[in-house]
Amino acid sequence: MELLTKHETEWINKIWEKLDAKLSVVTLRSRDKLPFCTKTHMHDDTKDDGINCWTNGFWPGLNWLMYSGTKNEEYLKTAETGEKLLDAAFDNYDQISHDTGFIWRLASGPNYALTGNEKSRIRQSMAASHLMARFNPVGEFIRAWNKHSIADDCSGLTIIDTMLNLPVLYWASREYNDPRFRFVAMKHADNTMLNHIRPDGSVRHVVIRNSETGEVTGEAGGQGYAIGSCWSRGQAWAIYGFVLSYIHTGKEEYLDTAKRAAHYFISAVCNTWIPMLDFRSPKEPAIYDTSAGMIAACGLIEIARLVPEYEKGLYMRAAIKLLMTIEEKYADWSKETDFIIDMASGSYKGTAHHNENIIYTDYYFAEAIYKLKGFEPLFW
Ligand code: GLY
Repeated sequence: MELLTKHETEWINKIWEKLDAKLSVVTLRSRDKLPFCTKTHMHDDTKDDGINCWTNGFWPGLNWLMYSGTKNEEYLKTAETGEKLLDAAFDNYDQISHDTGFIWRLASGPNYALTGNEKSRIRQSMAASHLMARFNPVGEFIRAWNKHSIADDCSGLTIIDTMLNLPVLYWASREYNDPRFRFVAMKHADNTMLNHIRPDGSVRHVVIRNSETGEVTGEAGGQGYAIGSCWSRGQAWAIYGFVLSYIHTGKEEYLDTAKRAAHYFISAVCNTWIPMLDFRSPKEPAIYDTSAGMIAACGLIEIARLVPEYEKGLYMRAAIKLLMTIEEKYADWSKETDFIIDMASGSYKGTAHHNENIIYTDYYFAEAIYKLKGFEPLFW
């Protein structure tokens, strides 16, 4: 059975062409930037003030995706420029958190996979080694943050987002034929499955542990509305993170967990297909997060590829519905602006960005279309 209808295939082809038409222009003017969002519709730049931001792999990664799919060398030049700029993040060692997978799996992983660049292999290896060193062997978890406003002591905090950092460890195990990296990734994934996923399939963002004993002592609301709520991007990290851990290890429970998280996400979003930032927050103020939809779509596409024939339609239709609805409502295809998808958010509280364009939304939108076009390699 074909996974996509004729209409969907035509739409995917059209969107890929639009991505290339716009990004082949934006790549030239944002060549030496590491954008987070836009100011008056043009990319901002975090390279001087925020080089260690977890989002800094997304612009190089987006350019690697476009290079991989088009072979236009202008994308490669921008991707390599961003990758080199990120060497300054290694110099800022105290500022490196668990996000080394988000950053270097996207900035350097594709370069090594596509061109064999030796420096990219080293950068990715450093990212994997740093992440390994954050493993707490008593509690069997990877420490997330160094410092955070939610706790004076962050040594026992885990967050669902770390699931997307694990692929750099799976890569290192394969690259060096050394199971240690995979062992650590799987211990962390097992622990996350046990403590972050609720019985109804919804996800806790932050779990608090005693870092001496590993005992779970509580949870925090994190970037969502409150303790007990459901941050939609965290829910999407669970879908995509667990299916990726399944792809890299073959452990069935990870696929089951990705599916449970997906079922919760689909039932929470299916009235509108535009995710609220938190699925359990009050309706007002209306804070949306289109990035959650794009990340979830990437995970749903992978699940659809893995499940038996009779299950595929559920996941693939949900992915397409998210992509088409959000694109129709919030895409900006003008070549005068630098962003593509609007209405993403950072977090519920604080000085968070609300209902804006943020680079990771464009990255995951393009990654979903790249997957649907049938391009390889998988970037995670
Ligand atoms: N730290 C990843 C996120 O904000 O989703």
